[in-house]
Amino acid sequence: MSIFSPRVFSGMQPTGNLHLGNYLGAMLNWVKMQESNECIYCVVDMHAITLWQEPKALHQAIRDVTAAYVACGVDPKRSIIFNQSQVAEHAELAWIFNCVARLGWLNRMTQFKDKAGKDKEAASVGLYVYPNLMAADILAYKATHVPVGEDQKQHLELARDIAQKFNVDFEVEFFPQPEPMITGPATRVMSLRDGTKKMSKSDPSDLSRINITDGADDIAKKIRKAKTDMDALPSEIAGLKGRPEAENLVGIYAALGGTTAQAVLSQFGGGQFSGLKNALADLAVAKLAPIADEIAKLKADPAHIDAILADGAQRARAIAAPIVKEARKIVGFVVS
Ligand code: TYM
Repeated sequence: MSIFSPRVFSGMQPTGNLHLGNYLGAMLNWVKMQESNECIYCVVDMHAITLWQEPKALHQAIRDVTAAYVACGVDPKRSIIFNQSQVAEHAELAWIFNCVARLGWLNRMTQFKDKAGKDKEAASVGLYVYPNLMAADILAYKATHVPVGEDQKQHLELARDIAQKFNVDFEVEFFPQPEPMITGPATRVMSLRDGTKKMSKSDPSDLSRINITDGADDIAKKIRKAKTDMDALPSEIAGLKGRPEAENLVGIYAALGGTTAQAVLSQFGGGQFSGLKNALADLAVAKLAPIADEIAKLKADPAHIDAILADGAQRARAIAAPIVKEARKIVGFVVS
């Protein structure tokens, strides 16, 4: 039995629109987990500025992502929704963690290597210590469960290492070991143009991703144009091996339909891709159109969104402040 009571924390970056990867890899689980857990869902604006963001666009994106959380089914009364920069404890604890984490640990982070690209010297220092801030996000609340997509697994492992080193260094049992919750048939949604690349906001081709605000025509077009191979669909999971585009479309269908990849193959196996694609386009429109409508409604009332964020920040602070204060005491700071 853990001495820590269960608490869920997760976040998304406000850099452009959310896409199907965010929705299937993380959001579906966020919504589900609210039913029986205390959940804290953050719009991680401080993470966003590790890469340059135009201030007006960032401001808008924070509201847009908040609207998307609510439209997807996160209930701002039951769960806490807030933007990270409004709760200073994240930055405070991140500094302590900058002094706990080791350079060698950060040097192994694949996301830094991907995002910094070839010219590492030109990357911001923030991008390098990004995983320490992420650990602080989670541990400022002593969160125990973190629903994310597959790509965040390495960051979660680092958060666990930081929690453990803090506890060992200061001879306390203060921070829990947060568990990544990476579940469902689409924990890694791939680009529609290249089944070996993750679907992402930063891909220059909009055809590579389905945005949750895309209209019916765009969704249908993107699925119709999605890359496939020449063979018919297999009837068993084993037949998807080495066929990343087929595996991706089957996984997306299963996740959107609330079923399994095997059930999808039982239905479409032996047929051409066009059958699956047509059904997938209909399913995606049926699931995403109501969300897009709701986002549009919420965006028409920015004051309401700001009020959700202000209320969430206050509730988040009430949890984080005493935890971070205690962490400062443990480190040896004079705390008044
Ligand atoms: P971000 O903003 O890149 O993505 C938000 C969530 O969406 C998931 N995701 C995907 N899942 C499946 N397939 C994909 N193609 C795909 N693309 C994105 C991500 O795994 C994530 O769950 N570092 C985080 C944000 C963060 C955070 C945190 C998360 C900051 N602090 C604390 C959890 C706890 C990120 O950049 O996510």
